[in-house]
Amino acid sequence: MQKYEGWEEFYSKPIEDKLDTFIKNGKIFDVIYAQQFERSYMEELFALADKVRVIAKTQQGMDFLGTILSDKKALLFFAQPSTRTFLSFQNACHTLGMKTSEIRDASTSSEVKGESPEDTIRTFSSYVDLIIIRHFNEGYAELASWTLNEHANRSVPVINGGSGKDQHPTQSLLDMYTFQRSFADIGGIDGKKIAMVGDLKRGRTVRSLCRLLSLYNDIELFFVSPPQLAMRNDILDFLSENGVKYTQTDDFEGVLQNADAVYSTRMQDEHDKNGESASVDYARFTLKESHLATMKEHAVILHPFPRRDEIEVAVDNNKRAAYWKQARNGMWVRIALILKLFGRDDVVHQSGLFKN
Ligand code: NCD
Repeated sequence: MQKYEGWEEFYSKPIEDKLDTFIKNGKIFDVIYAQQFERSYMEELFALADKVRVIAKTQQGMDFLGTILSDKKALLFFAQPSTRTFLSFQNACHTLGMKTSEIRDASTSSEVKGESPEDTIRTFSSYVDLIIIRHFNEGYAELASWTLNEHANRSVPVINGGSGKDQHPTQSLLDMYTFQRSFADIGGIDGKKIAMVGDLKRGRTVRSLCRLLSLYNDIELFFVSPPQLAMRNDILDFLSENGVKYTQTDDFEGVLQNADAVYSTRMQDEHDKNGESASVDYARFTLKESHLATMKEHAVILHPFPRRDEIEVAVDNNKRAAYWKQARNGMWVRIALILKLFGRDDVVHQSGLFKN
């Protein structure tokens, strides 16, 4: 997909060696990889999200929030299906007073007329101040960031809203925020046992989440999947190198009894080449109402959604089900992230509107 000299070389570099390029004036500017975040950044982000959601409870608060980025415009370029990520980003922008435009189908972009992705991206940047991208091509959001840094007069921040089978860094931020809120009274995220269940091989949410969880102390991970859909070695190696304990198993019921959190995921069969997932027995990883009695009292159940049959609908009414809150948390975290990218977080901190 790449035409510019230099991009191939840049893209092939280890991620750790190029994280600086996503930083401007000492701050995160583009959000491409979960590896960009430090624990302190997340803690600031979550504190800001907590403040914003309280401010947003009143009309006066909403009016105030709607002024903070009223000078900015965003483009949501979503070349893959999306409900929650799209709507939470769009409503995050609107809450902050940003105007948004959208391309929700790559076949309506001029790339189908033969335009290069680089020209398309530069065109986007002519009109807006922020570009949020979901793309089936794993390197697309990074190419956008690189192109705008190297070649465009206007360098605008790029946020990865899901890159193929690889990463979904903002989903992982909201997942971490949900964990933090869920475990607030029992010592926070440190020391928790977290089970990830389902298509771990192609699930970008779990892949990014492992990176963020590794920043906390004494986390223990349980990867529960059909053997064909096991977590890939790049993540397993990363966890080993960072001293994060993990176990790979298909003993779903055994893990449920020990876990502080269960993170369930859908089969990512859109990535099948020949319908190979059809033969995978996924049903035995369904979280059923009958399992709830075996789980810890304080355990929480997350799912990035969309859900098929991975969690019985009857589970929704149980206090451990956190996935509807999790989806809503996405909007607050994305508001906080956009504020930080534009350096307008202080406006919230200094507003005097926040009352505990
Ligand atoms: C996820 C995604 O797109 O990766 N959805 C989301 O953004 N909440 C998970 C999925 O599609 O299964």
